[in-house]
Amino acid sequence: MADLDDLREGCDFGLGVAAGEQSFHIKGAAHLPWGMKDRLSRIFNPQTGKTVMLAFDHGFIMGPTSGLERIDLNILPLVQYADCLMCTRGILQADIPPTVNKPICLRSDAGTSILTELNDNVIIDIEDAIRLNVSAMAVMLAIGDAGYEAKTIANLYKAVDLGSRYGIPVMGVTAVGKDMARDARYFGLASRICAENGANIVKTYYCDGFEKVAAACPVPVVIAGGKKLPEKEALQLCYNAINEGAADVDMGRNVFQSEASAAMIQAIHAVVHKGLTPEQGYELFQDLK
Ligand code: 5RP
Repeated sequence: MADLDDLREGCDFGLGVAAGEQSFHIKGAAHLPWGMKDRLSRIFNPQTGKTVMLAFDHGFIMGPTSGLERIDLNILPLVQYADCLMCTRGILQADIPPTVNKPICLRSDAGTSILTELNDNVIIDIEDAIRLNVSAMAVMLAIGDAGYEAKTIANLYKAVDLGSRYGIPVMGVTAVGKDMARDARYFGLASRICAENGANIVKTYYCDGFEKVAAACPVPVVIAGGKKLPEKEALQLCYNAINEGAADVDMGRNVFQSEASAAMIQAIHAVVHKGLTPEQGYELFQDLK
């Protein structure tokens, strides 16, 4: 029983003051339930609406690729500069201390390697995603691939059903098939299919005409970095993507394969959140390196 001594009656009800306007900073998420919004807000900074994800899930198909040989040595020092971490459950549990307290976008499909056909994947048990307290689940889609399109869309659909049940957002990751043109038409189609099937975030690639891809996608679009570029070009890519409507860069190789990975992620962070130009970002990279 609460202490009833000096129980004070409420007297300041703000009568005549309209209830505070409630809006939400994430595209397409205004009508989602509280748990979803809470998780999305852990990923997307409520002040800027943006995020810098550090992707290091590559080992799930590629093994110990360059820059990811030792997660404890290569990635842990970078974690402090990322807004969100994208990785597999194996690496999360083995190498990332829960005390880093960062939102996790969990790679939630698996089943193939670079040695075999990609995309023949199954999705993670939702209970494991809940146990790991993840902020989003990432599932790959192979749009345009005759063999795997239906299977990967079904994976996304199932992940969205399960995620909706427990308040966990889903990120649809558009894989690029060997035969697909890497253009706005293809990425626009793939991104829209992800969103129409319930993805709360879409991950795709930057391309000419990217502003149309972002505009036609009703949820935030984040871009992968792709193969390693010279640092200045990678910062230009981030700048272009953000200025043409991306909400996030979810980069991997352009960070962890950089000659100065900690400097690089800090420069990307400044371009995304502080609006630095690529030139200013590169200057920052040189200063920090
Ligand atoms: C692969 C992924 C990777 O996380 C993504 O490609 C980001 O890494 P990079 O910037 O190295 O391309 O989702 O499906």
